[in-house]
Amino acid sequence: MTQYALVTGAASGMGRASADVLQAAGWSLLLVDLDAGKLETANAGLAGKGAVNWLAGDLTDVDFVSRLSDKIAGLTVSAAVHCAGISPGMGSPSRILDVNLAASIALVDKLVNVIADGASVVLFASTAGHMLGSVFDQQIAEAVGERDLAQLRDLATSPEIAYALSKRGVQFLARNMALAFGKKNGRINSISPGIIDTPMSHAEMAQQPLMKTIVENSPLPRLAQPREVAEVAAFLCSPAASFVTGTDILVDGGSLTTFTHNIAE
Ligand SMILES: NC(=O)c1ccc[n+]([C@@H]2O[C@H](COP(=O)([O-])OP(=O)(O)OC[C@H]3O[C@@H](n4cnc5c(N)ncnc54)[C@H](O)[C@@H]3O)[C@@H](O)[C@H]2O)c1
Repeated sequence: MTQYALVTGAASGMGRASADVLQAAGWSLLLVDLDAGKLETANAGLAGKGAVNWLAGDLTDVDFVSRLSDKIAGLTVSAAVHCAGISPGMGSPSRILDVNLAASIALVDKLVNVIADGASVVLFASTAGHMLGSVFDQQIAEAVGERDLAQLRDLATSPEIAYALSKRGVQFLARNMALAFGKKNGRINSISPGIIDTPMSHAEMAQQPLMKTIVENSPLPRLAQPREVAEVAAFLCSPAASFVTGTDILVDGGSLTTFTHNIAE
C-alpha cells in the first residue's frame, strides 16, 4: 500500500528539504503550502521520482484545513511533518499566534482522526520556545489544553514574544496530544531547530544582530542546512523512533548550552 507523508510549508526551507528526504526514504508525498505556483515550482524535481500530491491554501483557513483533512482521509497518510510557520518579522503578534499555534492545533485535531493508525506527526517548534523559559508555562499549557489562545494574545506584546509563546505552545501541543495519538498506536513530537539556513532566518538575521552572536558562540558555530533538520524529522517518522513520543527534540548545534538564563526573566 502506498504510504503518504504530509509535509506543510513544503515550498521553502525545512519543509522543502523534508519533502526531499522523505521521498528518498520511500515515502509518497502530500505537499501543502500557501501558493500553488510556488509549491509546484519548488518541488518540480520530485514529481518524476514518485507519487506527489499538492494542495495549496492557508492553514489558518478553517475551510482549507477541512479540505486537507478530506484529502488525507482519502489516502493512507502515515507521517506528517508540519513545517509551515512565520517568524517575528513576518506578521503581527496575533497573526503569528494564528499561523504558528492556532493552525497547528486545528491541523493536529483533524489529523488525529484521519491519519493512519501507527502514524508519526512532527511539529516544528523553535529554540525560541526554550529561550522563553518556564515563566508562562501554566498559561501556555492551559491555552493549548483548552484550545483557547485568548490569554496568550494578552501576553503577546511584541512579535518576538508572540513567536516564542507560539513555539512553546507547539512543544506543549506535542505533549498534550501524545495520549490521543497513542490510542491509535501513533506518535507526535516536536523539533526545535536553532538557526537554519533558510529564507526565514536570513530575513530575521538582517533585523536581529543577536542571532549572529548566538551562532558564533554555539558549540557548532554555523548555520545548519535545512536538510540537517529534515533528516531528524524523517528519523522521527521512521520505525527507528518507534518509542519516541510527546517530546521535543532540539536540533540547534548546541546553541542553548550557551544561555544561562531565559529571555523572559
Ligand atoms: N529558519 C530557522 O532558523 C528556524 C528556526 C527555528 C524554527 N523554525 C521554524 O521552522 C519552520 C520552517 O521554517 P523555515 O525556515 O523553513 O521557513 P520558510 O519561511 O523557509 O518556509 C515556511 C513555509 O511555510 C509557508 N507558510 C507560512 N504560513 C503558511 C500558512 N498560513 N499556510 C500554509 N503555509 C504557510 C510559507 O509559504 C513557506 O513556504 C517554521 O515553523 C519556523 O518557525 C525556523
